Amino acid sequence: MINRETIEKILDATQIVDVIGEFVSLKRRGANYVACCPFHDEKTPSFSVSPSKGIFKCFGCGKGGDAVHFIMEHEHLSYPEALKWLAAKYNIEVVEKEETAEDIAQRMKSESMMLVNEFAAKYFVHELFDTMEGRAVGLSYFKERRKLSEQTIRHFGLGYSPVQRDSLAKEAAAKGYKAEFLTGTGLCVQHEDGRLTDRFFDRVIFPIHSLSGRVIAFGGRTLRNDKTIAKYVNSPESAIYEKRKTLYGIAFAKGEIIKKDKCLLVEGYLDVISMHQKGITNVVASSGTSLTVEQIRLIRRFTSNMTILYDGDPAGIKASLRGIDLVLEEGMNVKVVLIPDGDDPDSYSMKHTKEEIETFITGNEKDFIDFKAGLLLEEAGDDPRKRAGLINNISTSIAVIPDAIARSLYSERCAGMFGIEPNLVFERVRAIREERKAKESMRISAGTKEVPNGNRAEAAAGSNQENPENSQGVTDRFFAPCEKEIAYYLVKFGDEMLKFHQGSIDYDESNPDYTISVADYIKNAMDEDGLTMKNLLYADIYNEYFLNAPELGKETLNHFLHHPDEAIAKEALGYIYDKHPITIKEFVDTIPAEETELSEIVPKLMYIYKSKVVDVMMREITDRIALAQKDNDTAELENLMKRFVRISAMKNEYSKLLKRLVL
Ligand code: CTP
Ligand code: MN
Repeated sequence: MINRETIEKILDATQIVDVIGEFVSLKRRGANYVACCPFHDEKTPSFSVSPSKGIFKCFGCGKGGDAVHFIMEHEHLSYPEALKWLAAKYNIEVVEKEETAEDIAQRMKSESMMLVNEFAAKYFVHELFDTMEGRAVGLSYFKERRKLSEQTIRHFGLGYSPVQRDSLAKEAAAKGYKAEFLTGTGLCVQHEDGRLTDRFFDRVIFPIHSLSGRVIAFGGRTLRNDKTIAKYVNSPESAIYEKRKTLYGIAFAKGEIIKKDKCLLVEGYLDVISMHQKGITNVVASSGTSLTVEQIRLIRRFTSNMTILYDGDPAGIKASLRGIDLVLEEGMNVKVVLIPDGDDPDSYSMKHTKEEIETFITGNEKDFIDFKAGLLLEEAGDDPRKRAGLINNISTSIAVIPDAIARSLYSERCAGMFGIEPNLVFERVRAIREERKAKESMRISAGTKEVPNGNRAEAAAGSNQENPENSQGVTDRFFAPCEKEIAYYLVKFGDEMLKFHQGSIDYDESNPDYTISVADYIKNAMDEDGLTMKNLLYADIYNEYFLNAPELGKETLNHFLHHPDEAIAKEALGYIYDKHPITIKEFVDTIPAEETELSEIVPKLMYIYKSKVVDVMMREITDRIALAQKDNDTAELENLMKRFVRISAMKNEYSKLLKRLVL
């Protein structure tokens, strides 16, 4: 562990522009630097670095943080590893906290266990390839029955344990390995008379590797059809092997998971191996059990996109539902593919080419919640009571999603699938979250900060207590005033052009004459952060505007005034008369004399909107921090704190932008 003082030295020495400049070419723009984002594909730069604040932020993919976060993200390092990277760059000597005698003893013990495992792994490989028994039984099984090439077998370190029940124990003793570590790893069992026998015999062997590629455990499969013999025997848990933290194949898959920004999850050893043999290598297995939080977090170090491949049998499907809330809660994007016709990924990949498999996956993957909803819907049929139960069930899944925007999106979609009012789902999800919070009882309330007073946009955002008409489709009070205003500017001024003057945040000195319409500005602002309106009424107006805008021109307002949807027509009516709670008189029937006013207000509105999105995220993280504190879950706590730091950096960035707009 790095000591506190060293960490401070490193952070003090670190110049973010220096650090990021090693990986991307930064161009100065005003006080900041910009570049094309190294974390996603783009042609125009939306990646921005602020040397004064020491942070970076990509307005395209949302990644952001300080220099340490950049190195963690870019080089896929842990927090201490990233600090060491920076220390090396700035020639800072890293002083580690001194290990206690106990720490040292533990480390030595783990190291010895790994060495014993490495010896055993080699032994099993030797038995497979270099003995008559191994070749006749094990190797022929892998090659003929499982269609594995020698290269694949060697790549995964597959092996064989002979029928004789103490062959490994004897070999180990001859080589001087201590009984303590042979039993500690579970490779051997010690009997009362002191004799050692093997855990694995008469089986083919799958070594299980840690993330860094060291052998931490083994799985052994019997080749016998005898039902009284367990199909798999596995190493027991030990100081170096915790099943719930392990994913089979992760050491071989991590590079490709990063590259593809996606992880495929299968059930068993042979599913992973067969897919790899086909050339699809971003695959790992949960090893037959349902996914654990630790496994999900391991995947999340490399990607937030995962696709679960399941056999089409009912057990497989049920298994996929069990893990659902857990995975969603971690903020992962999860998809599911069902493998048809009684195949599993192993047998399926044997029958198809790499291209066929990839096409099948991309063509058949379903969003997890859609998948669950569809499955439940099928089960419930037309029974109205069952269908009502369904809404509860699916709302429970939606309620755990950390991202507010994703939540509202799912609520809408599920309502669509069930053919019910979205409000019903919104309300249910909200009620479930409230219940949960009440239960947690330790809720820390992080109220929204008032933004400095100024113009309409601020009035809209700062007024929590303001009560937008309780009309249909307005369910999210927190976002309603902002969204109402966005809809207002679109409908009334969508075609007006914005022009930015020196000193305004959107002013680009390399392109001083840049102009953009109000509508395009709003759309870009929403799209660049993947935002969608959270209130159905405003979402409807927004979507319809962009669907029809080019044809409407000056008729836009009229179009909405005469809209068949009464709620929309009524809303548009409010835009004409002085009823609008957030506009001032001079805005009512004339376009403001100076275009500059729109050029100030519209950007401000969008930044306020985004800062509110960040507020919601922060509040949720604070809630979860309180929970983690209560549960004493330090790993979770550390993780949440990191996210909190990242998000507060975004919040600061927005506040800063807003302040500059006031001036
Ligand atoms: N598994 C395990 N321990 C068990 C049973 C299963 O670790 N006692 C894990 C293994 O990773 C196994 C996976 O669960 O690969 C799936 O189990 P199963 O479907 O029974 O086996 P397959 O690997 O598919 O074996 P095969 O294709 O040879 O039948
Ligand atoms: Mn199988």
